[in-house]
Amino acid sequence: MRTYHVTTFGCQMNEHDSERMRGMLDSLGYEEVAEREDAALILFNTCSIREAADNRFLAHLGQAKRLKSDDPTRVVGVGGCWAQSVKEEVFRRFPFVDVAFGPGQIHRLAEFLTADSIDAHGRFLMRDAGREPECAQGAQGARAEAGRGYFEFEGFAGHLPMKRAREFQAWLQISQGCNCVCSYCIVPSTRGREQSRPPGELLAEVERLAADGVLEVTLLGQNVNAYGRDLPRDERVTFAELLRAVDAIPGIRRIRYTSPHPKDIREDVIRAHAECEALCEHIHLPLQSGSSRILKAMRRTYNRERYLDRVAQIREHVPDCALTTDIIVGFPGESEEDFQATLDVVSEVAYDSAYTFVYSPRRGTEAAELPDQVPHPVKVERMERLVALVQERARERAERFVGRAMEVLVEGPSRTDPARLRGRTTHNKTVNFDGTAEPGDIVEVEITAATSMTLNGQERLLSRVG
Ligand code: 5AD
Ligand code: SF4
Repeated sequence: MRTYHVTTFGCQMNEHDSERMRGMLDSLGYEEVAEREDAALILFNTCSIREAADNRFLAHLGQAKRLKSDDPTRVVGVGGCWAQSVKEEVFRRFPFVDVAFGPGQIHRLAEFLTADSIDAHGRFLMRDAGREPECAQGAQGARAEAGRGYFEFEGFAGHLPMKRAREFQAWLQISQGCNCVCSYCIVPSTRGREQSRPPGELLAEVERLAADGVLEVTLLGQNVNAYGRDLPRDERVTFAELLRAVDAIPGIRRIRYTSPHPKDIREDVIRAHAECEALCEHIHLPLQSGSSRILKAMRRTYNRERYLDRVAQIREHVPDCALTTDIIVGFPGESEEDFQATLDVVSEVAYDSAYTFVYSPRRGTEAAELPDQVPHPVKVERMERLVALVQERARERAERFVGRAMEVLVEGPSRTDPARLRGRTTHNKTVNFDGTAEPGDIVEVEITAATSMTLNGQERLLSRVG
């Protein structure tokens, strides 16, 4: 039996890429197994956003090495952003890795695993493509060239089958890559220049998803607001127009997207939130820092005032909109005063939730070379203060839901009490509640209590909305 196991690290884009890998492998007759040790093909879809992500992956790779030494017929494949950031170095550092590919070559996975790579017992045989440096000479030279090419962006995986985790939710990749030059970020070097998928292709995909029972679709891109700018003039639509077109597709009850860039979010998108029925009342607006001086060093191209103007505009058009954010603590040169400016913005905006990160120098990025790196204990101490404030404000914000009936898309049993249910509001708040609904139902839930992270409630009888 040709079995495989995929471990995914990183963002929703990576989760979605892994769905494509699974879909493709299933269509080739492979079978997914729950445990890595039972797999003939061990795949990793990696992330490189922070050092912690690298380390987590390397620990897993160590286990794959042991499994491969027990049974050398296993194939180990490494895809995604970490693979892209180290390229052929992966084969030098980890000679037991058979296949490596970047986020732009997902559709080539099948080629790496061609029929001739499987022996009479259905086991994988190693393929030499990309096996530097041995094949860099002689007759193998052409193959080695192709191996290098594997790390260039070659195309979207949009036409590939995908295996979704839940039948009623789907991701839609609208663009690939990023043209921003944020000085801390490795993504432009791992996912390349921005390329938008044509709107016709996207809308056809959403129609197929809707016909397939999908209720909630999440549009994915590194900077979704820049969507369409690179398309030929006759095909070009703005992100706001794309949102409206998706909203018009029958059956799609919820539209989410991630992430917009504060420099590019415009009033047309904010108005779409007010006017499109399916567009959720939630905007993830990464702040990164509340200090204009640090934002400049980060090359974010907005300052604190501009960011707060955007927030005011959102609140004006969509008063109940949930706002979430990403914040980096301890960027090089961040003083106590700069950090205080971040706390001030967090206090003023009162986010519904925030992802907080300790700054991590990344290879090849501008900020990694900056002097004045903040000592680790200072980063940790600031992080603690930031998290405490984020949680305090989030809890206060969540109070506004208590006593209200909220529309909840049921996702499954509650994680803490399997006798209860769990779902999400359009604000992207997780609700744990008592009720009789099934996953995929949209029901009304009376909110009875709130913490900084979750809401608690009771399903309203006869409330099925969809
Ligand atoms: N160090 C810490 N956090 C980072 N992020 C991106 N690069 C780094 C880095 N080098 C954070 C940003 C981004 C989120 C996905 O990860 O906040 O929005
Ligand atoms: Fe990680 Fe960024 Fe790549 Fe996503 S795009 S997998 S967050 S490095």
